[in-house]
Amino acid sequence: MAIPVEKTSVSTTDQQASHPLDPLTSGEIIRAASILKQERSLGPRVRFETIVLNEPDKACVAGFSAGDPVLREAFLVVLDNETESTYEATVSLNEGMVTSWKHIPGVQPRIMFDEFAECEATVQADPQFQAALKKRGITDPDLVMVDPWSAGYYGYEDEEGRRLALTRNFLRSGPNDNGYARPIEGLSALVDLNKMEIMRIDDYGVIPLPPNPGNYAAEFVEEFRQDLKPLEITQPEGPSFTVDGYGVTWQKWHLRVGFTPREGLVLHQIGYEDQGRIRPVLHRAALSDMVVPYGDPSADHYRKNAFDAGEYGIGSLTNPLTLGCDCLGEIYYFDAHLNTGSGEAFTIPNAVCMHEEDYGILWKHTDWRTGHVEVRRSRRLVISSVATVGNYEYGFFWYLYQDGGIQLEIKLTGIINTAGIAEGEVPAHGTLVAPQLNAHIHQHFFNFRLDLDVDGPSNTVLEVNTVAEAPGPDNPHANAFHAEATPLKSELEAQRVVDPMSGRYWLVTNPEVKNALGQPVGYKLMPGENILPFAHPSASIMKRAGFMSKHLWVTPYTSGELSATGPYPNQHPGGAGLPEYTRNDRNVENTDVVLWYTLGYHHVPRPEDWPISPVAYCGFSLKPVGFFDTNPVLDVPPSAHHNGACHT
Ligand code: CO
Repeated sequence: MAIPVEKTSVSTTDQQASHPLDPLTSGEIIRAASILKQERSLGPRVRFETIVLNEPDKACVAGFSAGDPVLREAFLVVLDNETESTYEATVSLNEGMVTSWKHIPGVQPRIMFDEFAECEATVQADPQFQAALKKRGITDPDLVMVDPWSAGYYGYEDEEGRRLALTRNFLRSGPNDNGYARPIEGLSALVDLNKMEIMRIDDYGVIPLPPNPGNYAAEFVEEFRQDLKPLEITQPEGPSFTVDGYGVTWQKWHLRVGFTPREGLVLHQIGYEDQGRIRPVLHRAALSDMVVPYGDPSADHYRKNAFDAGEYGIGSLTNPLTLGCDCLGEIYYFDAHLNTGSGEAFTIPNAVCMHEEDYGILWKHTDWRTGHVEVRRSRRLVISSVATVGNYEYGFFWYLYQDGGIQLEIKLTGIINTAGIAEGEVPAHGTLVAPQLNAHIHQHFFNFRLDLDVDGPSNTVLEVNTVAEAPGPDNPHANAFHAEATPLKSELEAQRVVDPMSGRYWLVTNPEVKNALGQPVGYKLMPGENILPFAHPSASIMKRAGFMSKHLWVTPYTSGELSATGPYPNQHPGGAGLPEYTRNDRNVENTDVVLWYTLGYHHVPRPEDWPISPVAYCGFSLKPVGFFDTNPVLDVPPSAHHNGACHT
C-alpha cells in the first residue's frame, strides 16, 4: 500500500539580496527603472529591454564573505521607440543614482514579449492582410495566429536601420486548438516594430490549408491507455540539499543559482568540498545563445532562423512549473523576477525546479570467488527550467553527480514548425508529417559559456586525441594506441570541432595544482551527439551565427564577453560575438579561461514528431580527470533494503 505523503512546494521569497550574485529583486527592478526614468526624463515611448543585475567582477565576488555590505548595481538596456535609439545604463542601487548612460548606435534590441501581442493585433487588423486571408477562404482574422520571427539581415536597402519582424501565420479553428496544424502558406507580413505598422505584405500564392486538425490536448484524446499504476517518489526525511537564498549545498557540492531574461538559468560558483575545503570547478555556466537555421530555400521560408536567447530572451519566456506535472518528488523552486517593457517587475513563479533523482547504480562489483557484492546507488541533483519560444519548448537540465560529474541536458519538445504543401507533392526540404503538412529540415545550435576555474583561475586547455600507432620496431604486434594531449595555446588554435573517431575531448587543467600522483588536476569537457551546420559559408546565417562553425572556442576571461553572438544579434549583419572576441588570437594558456561549447542538434522531422514532439535529448558533460586522488565516491554509504544493507 502506498503511504500518502503530503506534497509541499517551497519557493524563494522576493527577499533582500544577501550576496553580490543574487538576481535583482522585484523591488530593485522597479527602483532601477524609476531612477533611470527620473534622471534621464524618459518618455512613455521608451521600452525597457533589459533590467538585470550588473554582475560584479570575479575579483569582487571572490573577496565577498557573508555579512559584508552587498554591492548592488543594475544594468539596463532601453529602446526609445520614438527616436529609434538604444541606450545602455547602469544604476547604482546602493547610491540611488545613474552611474552610466550610453547611446549604442546601429543596434536593434531583441523582440520583447509585449511586442508579440502588439504585432499580432497590428497584422490581424491590416486590410491588405485581411484581403489575402479572404483569398484563402479565411474570414475571421481573430483566429489567425501571427508569430513574429526575427527578420535577420540580408542587406536589403529598405530594411536598413528599421526594427523588423517577419510573421509566420497559422489558422486556428477554435480558440483552443493547435493552429500550427494549418499554416497559412505563402503569406507573411513584414512589420516595423518601432512604429508598430505593416511595412509590406508578401503573398506568394495560395496553397490550400491542410485538412487535419492535429490536436493533442487531453480534451481531444478519445481514449487514454488504462494500464498505468501510480508511481510515487517520496523522501520521508526531506531532500539532502540545503538552500540559503540562492546558495545551494548538496552533499559535497556548493553552488549559487541565478537567472537572467536573456540566458534563463545561470549557475554560479560551483565547487566540490574535498578534504575540508571547497575546490572551485565552474565559476559561471549558462546558455549564451542559440539559433535554429532551417533548410528550405523558398521565398517565404529562406529567412527562417531565430536566436532564441539573443533575439527573444529565452529566460523571459520561461514556464512556471507545476509540482507533480513538470517536477516529481521533493521539489525546491526558485522564482524568477524579471522586467516588463514599461519598467515594472513581473515574477515567473517556480521558474527553476531543483530536486534529487535516483540515478541507478553508482558502482558495483561481485567477487565471483566469494560471492561478495558491493553496490552503491547513485543520485543526482537536478536544476532545471523550461521555456516556450513560439511553437517550441526547450528544457535546460543541469545535473550534478556525486562523483564530481556535471552534465547539461537539453530536452527539446513542443510543436515543430510547419508549412503547407499542395496535395500530392513531396517536400524537397522537409518531411510530410500529416496530409499537406510539411515540416522543414532544420538544426538547433546551442552555445554554452563555461567559465571554468579548475582549482583556481589559472587553467590551460588541452585537446586529447587517441592515436593508432603504425606497426614497426616499437609496435611489433600492431596493437599499440595511446592518448595524446596537445595544449591549445591561443584563441585561434583553440577553435576546434568534435572527432568521435579519435575519442576527442578537451581537458582543462590547472598546471599549478597537482594531485597525489603529481599530475595537474583537471576536468574534461566531453561532447555528446553533435553536428556542424549545413548552410553554405556565404549564407547570411553563417555570418550572423559564426559560433556554429566550431564546437569549441576558448577565450581569456574578459568581463562583458557573455554571448556567442554578441550583445545585439537581432538584425546584426554578422561577425559579432565569438568571431570578434577571438580576432586578436589572445593567449589562453595558463590563464583564466572561458570555454564556449557549441552543440548542434540535427532535426530531420518524423511523422512521430507531429502533432507534438516527444522529448528529444542532447547535451554534454564535464568530468573530473585527476582532480581527485582516487575514486571520490567510496564514502557513499550502502543503501538499506528489506533484508538489510546492499552489500554481502
Ligand atoms: Co527541431
